[in-house]
Amino acid sequence: MKILVIGSGGREHALVWKLAQSPLVTEMWCAPGNAGIAQERTKKTEKPVECANIGAEDLPGLLALAQEKRVDFTVVGPDNPLALGIVDLFQKHGLKIWGVNQKAAQFESSKVFSQKFMEKHGIPTALAGTFSDVTAAKRFCATLGGKCVVKADGLALGKGVLMCLNQTMAEKAVDEIMVGKAFGAAGANVVIQEFLEGIEVSMHALCDGKTAKIFPTSQDHKRALDGDRGLNTGGMGTYSPTPFLTDAELAETARTVLEPFMRGCVAEGIDYRGLLYPGVMLTKSGPKILEFNARFGDPETQVYLTRLENDLVELLDASASGTLAKQELKWSPLASVCVVMASGGYPGSYPKGKVITGLAAANALPHTKVFHAGTALRDGQIVTNGGRVLGVTALGTDVKAAQAAAYAAVEQIRFEGAQFRRDIAAKAF
Ligand code: AMP
Ligand code: GLY
Repeated sequence: MKILVIGSGGREHALVWKLAQSPLVTEMWCAPGNAGIAQERTKKTEKPVECANIGAEDLPGLLALAQEKRVDFTVVGPDNPLALGIVDLFQKHGLKIWGVNQKAAQFESSKVFSQKFMEKHGIPTALAGTFSDVTAAKRFCATLGGKCVVKADGLALGKGVLMCLNQTMAEKAVDEIMVGKAFGAAGANVVIQEFLEGIEVSMHALCDGKTAKIFPTSQDHKRALDGDRGLNTGGMGTYSPTPFLTDAELAETARTVLEPFMRGCVAEGIDYRGLLYPGVMLTKSGPKILEFNARFGDPETQVYLTRLENDLVELLDASASGTLAKQELKWSPLASVCVVMASGGYPGSYPKGKVITGLAAANALPHTKVFHAGTALRDGQIVTNGGRVLGVTALGTDVKAAQAAAYAAVEQIRFEGAQFRRDIAAKAF
């Protein structure tokens, strides 16, 4: 089987690494990929994974590549190509592809759509309203005492969410998004939610249009600095499992969230085949959904795929083909921790082209895998090429052991200005 993976981050490196282990795979491409992805080989044929210099949003270019290489199965990592309709396009040309179609991608590309869907189908979420009118929006904030979260409707690179503690802040947030157009057209409509308190966890479920199979929980660390201080980022580290939900509570959450979700999709003519990643707040009155993502999380994928024992090709094929009910997800009892090493300055501006050393030493440590995100190969050396640079991931008998192993690997790696959190997974203890 010939496989193409779309994307270039740590998530895509983890997808490529795991897919390449499948005995079904003979050849692989990644577009555009990164320096770490280019070092992977298919286990069965030992062929290097080839990175093609085509952007993840260049849909005609990606289609031409899949046709030219006679790719059997394409796997999409990031949200943008999904929202642009890559799945619909490939299917129209008779190509098999994994990921949600454009209609299903709305769960991530429109927060207004998601909020209305949750309310209509009885999925537990924050008390909320959706608005296209500034005055009505501000009036709703006031009913919440100003303690609320104002969200731009559309995709805003994870930045269109403003947390407010009082009415002054809330009105400023509404003005910034709806009048000042701080996030452009994404802010023409807003969702305003009550400010929920609790522990935030990531849920993932693989779906095939009828069936949803839930993963164990994981937890991301979105702020740049230790102790959840500093700016919001794409994610500075993850671990799995988390101690915050028992297996019974996770199953109960799956029942109250995934069952109405899948039923609602069928009722509304949405064929949801792909990954569903709800952001969940564990509040005193139970789990509440903050938002839906329609793809694998990054860096959640790095910890999930190091724990997954199934053949990922079989699982994604079952998700795309509607045969997931026959699959049983198997997870290693080991815990996994991923520490993201970022460029100095991230999530603000940062330099590129810094030489990275110690990768081989880190990868040589037991149960350790260094996933690349923003890296490139320059004159035979691996250099930094993005904000999040590496996802240093390790397994251990428990979260504590995995954490120690991940940081031991981080210690081996050097690049000028390297920045990482020292408290990834500390919340588990
Ligand atoms: P979202 O993109 O909607 O997940 O929001 C980004 C982040 O904002 C989340 O990961 C939460 O940390 C925070 N957040 C979003 N909605 C709420 C809410 N209703 N209450 C508290 N925090 C929230
Ligand atoms: N881990 C955050 C995200 O993938 O959106």
